[in-house]
Amino acid sequence: MANDTRFITTVWRVMDELKRTDQLEEALAEDLDIFCDVLGCETGYIWMKGTTDDRIYVLAAKAPVDQSGVSVRVGEGIIGTLFNEKTPEVVKNGSSDPRAAGTDDAPLVGNETLVVPMRTPYGAYGVLQLNDPAGGFSEDDIKLAENCCALIALDLEDKGLEFRPGKDRSPLVSLRGIIKEFQNGDEIRRILKGIDLDVYEGELLVVLGESGCGKSTMLNIIGGMDQATEGQLIIEGNDFSHPSEEELTRFRRDYIGFIFQSYNLMPNLSALENIEFIAEISEHPLESEEMLRMVGLGDKAENLPSSMSGGQQQRVCIARAIVKNPKIILADEPTAALDFNTGQEVLKLIEQIVRERKTTVIMVTHNIEIAKMADRVIRLKDGLISSIRVNLHPLHAEDLSW
Ligand SMILES: Nc1ncnc2c1ncn2[C@@H]1O[C@H](COP(=O)(O)OP(=O)(O)O)[C@@H](O)[C@H]1O
Ligand SMILES: [Mg+2]
Repeated sequence: MANDTRFITTVWRVMDELKRTDQLEEALAEDLDIFCDVLGCETGYIWMKGTTDDRIYVLAAKAPVDQSGVSVRVGEGIIGTLFNEKTPEVVKNGSSDPRAAGTDDAPLVGNETLVVPMRTPYGAYGVLQLNDPAGGFSEDDIKLAENCCALIALDLEDKGLEFRPGKDRSPLVSLRGIIKEFQNGDEIRRILKGIDLDVYEGELLVVLGESGCGKSTMLNIIGGMDQATEGQLIIEGNDFSHPSEEELTRFRRDYIGFIFQSYNLMPNLSALENIEFIAEISEHPLESEEMLRMVGLGDKAENLPSSMSGGQQQRVCIARAIVKNPKIILADEPTAALDFNTGQEVLKLIEQIVRERKTTVIMVTHNIEIAKMADRVIRLKDGLISSIRVNLHPLHAEDLSW
């Protein structure tokens, strides 16, 4: 009887996620959380088959490391093999299973792994993978996961979802085992506890997490404003873990544009001068006046920051960040100090930078609504990445509301 209740409530919760949200990827990530929670699994993945290729990709991961780029060919590895099956399978000692040998899904399988195909009578869409539950997988657990996956597959089919993963997936920035400690008197506090993350060219990556969890610390390390205690920072394949002052300055100048929550404009320079000042010290700057026009402030060139609204000042900051023509723009809670309408205008500009200029943007926020416009969303918790998901269909900034 207890298990009947569990069955019904879980199916209900899983369906509710699918109904509630306007974004399927978010629903799948939430459903993954539900499965992990109900079956007591620390880690788990939802894999999706590419619509136009024969690979299966990690779409959502509940795991401490970034695996959103991992994929296997259909028929290859444990996941690729079981994708073709009609029923779930529990794989024991996955990493030494001959099917896993040398395949990219091998590091993701546990000692005991439940693999459930997501399929309807007409097609196969993906796989749910759950690892190492507290007391093993019971028959009831397997039935529950199987039924829920059948419902999810029907929903996917119903919505006619297409999944076209990007082809060129070489990372612009990689973090490996990044640890950051701060010393306060005698006490050493470990804020980042081993972050693994790849950031790809031209993507909008949103970083979510509660206040104080280390989001800004991570962003500052990526931007060369602060250095990790341990771990590797790799920029376009080059190890940048121990840069000289000169290398660091050059990196910040050529690669990074920063947008802060507080505007950090120079108070005695006009809007245009604030932008020109940065353009002058940049290697390949864009045209300052054009940037001011792009952010809708062509008529405010002579204004001092003090004579502008918060939203206008933030737009000057965005112009100042893009005028450098950087490869990466780091935005730390860029809308936190703004009202909804002004915040949305700022997000529209950020969308334009990513989608039209193809600049990579990493945006930190604690507003989960903003995550819907991202290509990928990572959550930080207790100094680690706790989950990561891919948005197949990011929303436009103008469709967000909070
Ligand atoms: N320079 C510093 N010295 C000491 N502690 C710091 C420093 N910077 C950040 N911290 C601490 O690290 C933790 C994470 O900070 P932060 O990265 O700013 O969090 P978030 O941006 O997620 O709100 C906080 O507890 C903060 O007090
Ligand atoms: Mg912060």
